[in-house]
Amino acid sequence: MSAAIRPARVEDVEDMRALIARYAADDRMLVRSRDFLLEHLRDFVVAQDATGFLGCCALAVLTPDLAEVRSLAVTPEASGQGIGKALVLACVAEARRLGLRRIFALTLVPEFFERCGFVLTSLGRLPEKSAAECPVCPKRFACDEHAMLLHLDGTAPLPLTPNEPVGYTRLFLGREPER
Ligand SMILES: CC(C)(COP(=O)(O)OP(=O)(O)OC[C@H]1O[C@@H](n2cnc3c(N)ncnc32)[C@H](O)[C@@H]1OP(=O)(O)O)[C@@H](O)C(=O)NCCC(=O)NCCS
Repeated sequence: MSAAIRPARVEDVEDMRALIARYAADDRMLVRSRDFLLEHLRDFVVAQDATGFLGCCALAVLTPDLAEVRSLAVTPEASGQGIGKALVLACVAEARRLGLRRIFALTLVPEFFERCGFVLTSLGRLPEKSAAECPVCPKRFACDEHAMLLHLDGTAPLPLTPNEPVGYTRLFLGREPER
């Protein structure tokens, strides 16, 4: 991988917005407005090579103990070259630097996060997220996201119990996700 990972700058915002919108149109991630991206710009890292912008990822600190990897996207042209993993690992390194203990992601590509060292957990085990933000998420009636968790202190997250529901709709609304 010849791409560099660096903190995002204002001139990256339009590339970030357009790439996220492209995947959001396919329901693969949540759309982010220009204003949102500017407000949260300091959360973001971007990947870049000589050809320009290749992808982005954000680390949002939710509590003194917990951060979330958000808005991860790599351009289709640059995918499969280790750039997504490098973006996530940059966020993991930043979470360590900040002194956080746990980092998670909600994702439709759990296998990718497994390759980055995360393990599947249940949203019920992340009440800091599921109680605060999930109830107003546009996908709450059809939550098909997987919660992936990494402990930064080297301990392993508790394994799921057999048949434990993982997504918001089943867990908190007690029904199958709408299709
Ligand atoms: C998911 C995404 C970020 C992966 O980026 P990428 O740069 O192609 O991934 P990488 O090349 O860094 O892959 C790292 C590892 O994950 C694996 N991987 C990548 N995408 C995968 C997928 N969709 N399913 C399963 N495994 C995947 C790779 O094979 C690689 O495995 P390895 O460590 O054994 O070599 C990218 O495809 C993307 O932007 N998708 C659309 C938006 C999206 O789904 N974002 C995630 C929201 S949480």
